Amino acid sequence: MSDHLTVVNHPLVQHKLSLMRDKTTPTALFRQLLREISHLLAYEVTRDLPMTTHSVDTPLVEMQAPVLAGHKLALVSVLRAGNGLLDGMLDLIPSARVGFVGLYRDEATLEPVEYYFKVPADLDKRVVIAVDPMLATGNSSVAAIQRLKDAGAKDVRFLCLLAAPEGVARMREAHPDVPVTTAALDERLNKKGYIVPGLGDAGDRMFGTK
Ligand code: URA
Repeated sequence: MSDHLTVVNHPLVQHKLSLMRDKTTPTALFRQLLREISHLLAYEVTRDLPMTTHSVDTPLVEMQAPVLAGHKLALVSVLRAGNGLLDGMLDLIPSARVGFVGLYRDEATLEPVEYYFKVPADLDKRVVIAVDPMLATGNSSVAAIQRLKDAGAKDVRFLCLLAAPEGVARMREAHPDVPVTTAALDERLNKKGYIVPGLGDAGDRMFGTK
């Protein structure tokens, strides 16, 4: 496995993901599982955050206790499915600043078009974790990350639930400096751009639409 891609091969992650893949899993359970997996993925994607120490008086002594260093985090959800991962990430990192990137696909050009962009002003001073459950063609993820870099982001990571080899390759080519963390690397994309075996449309399954 390259440094660019981390597959979180933890038994709990894999078990919960298998339940999410099942087409009979209802919306409420799908959402709950996504939230639980987000906690485990958040743990992994933040594993190398810079640390410093802080003086703390315990009831017994004064100690230099480890705390996160610097300007901390910005979490950026790629709308709309990114919000499912975002909620669970915020459970673990409640003080993170939050941004949103909204993109839709132009049916004529098939290129992503931005319809919403709101991020913390000091993006250049933060570790930025962009979240979107499905890294399929990679088109929208690559565009979202480019937008974050244009807004000043220097240290960007990408977190997803499922990735297709095509999307990983596209990300590596466009953003070799952006590490990708995923719960699974699936086989391929189908002709409609769905990840196979996948779990279907993550947004529809999360929000009960379609
Ligand atoms: N987006 C989804 O929600 N599912 C896929 O399989 C691909 C892209």
